[in-house]
Amino acid sequence: MSVPALVDLHCHFVPGVDDGARDIDEAIAQLTEYDRQNIKTVVTTPHLAASASRGQWRDDIDAAFAELSAAAARVCPDIKLGLSFEFRLDDPDADLSDRRIGLGDGGRLLVEFPMLALPAYPDRMLEIVLASDWIPVLAHPERYSGVERAYGWIARWREMGALMCLNAGSLWGEHGGEAQRVARRMLADSSVDMIASDNHARPHRAATVRQAWDYLADSGCEEQATLLTAVNPTAVLAGDRLVAVPPCEPRSGWVDRLRRAFTGG
Ligand SMILES: [Fe+2]
Repeated sequence: MSVPALVDLHCHFVPGVDDGARDIDEAIAQLTEYDRQNIKTVVTTPHLAASASRGQWRDDIDAAFAELSAAAARVCPDIKLGLSFEFRLDDPDADLSDRRIGLGDGGRLLVEFPMLALPAYPDRMLEIVLASDWIPVLAHPERYSGVERAYGWIARWREMGALMCLNAGSLWGEHGGEAQRVARRMLADSSVDMIASDNHARPHRAATVRQAWDYLADSGCEEQATLLTAVNPTAVLAGDRLVAVPPCEPRSGWVDRLRRAFTGG
């Protein structure tokens, strides 16, 4: 199997600005590993709460990103590094007028619901984003508490035009059983548009899109792996049309558990 150059659109590597990399060494360690894993385009996405996105919120993040970019250019020059944000929809009066917060230049914005819970009216939160002329890319839809029971929301969000971006680690249960089951169900009914890492440069939050690619490709889903971790994330950044991802049913959780029991992993 030949692994394409992979793209990660959701990770937390800007040092010292959120709950991701604590310093530049932690961020560079991850980027060096990404380079080794053939992840060549990385958009790092610090948390940005809608309720805190007015005034001079950006200067410290820009300065830390500039420092990271300079170090990355020396250590892993093959990686194309960009800055965007994971916009937390915690304010119905969110100001989304700053066009510099999007993923690339394509008019797409990475968003999340607050508290990893389904809001009372999640469609309205996404309508706010759409009304501001952004296409929302919903981060980790599989992780919001209660989404398994309210699975119909996912089809509704996609009908509205939102794109669904799974966390890599959800595939193998890093975020618990509900997230894993929902992720698998979404893959089986072609409801996933892309996979990103949500890597926080911490030992327990360091999944990569290469691991996701390997996981899917090993399960007979190589075509889907490439669409989800290379083709579609590239299209998101460019503002191009995404490719529909055929249904995919990777190996089940009990196979993983059996494997870990034998390997001690
Ligand atoms: Fe995140």
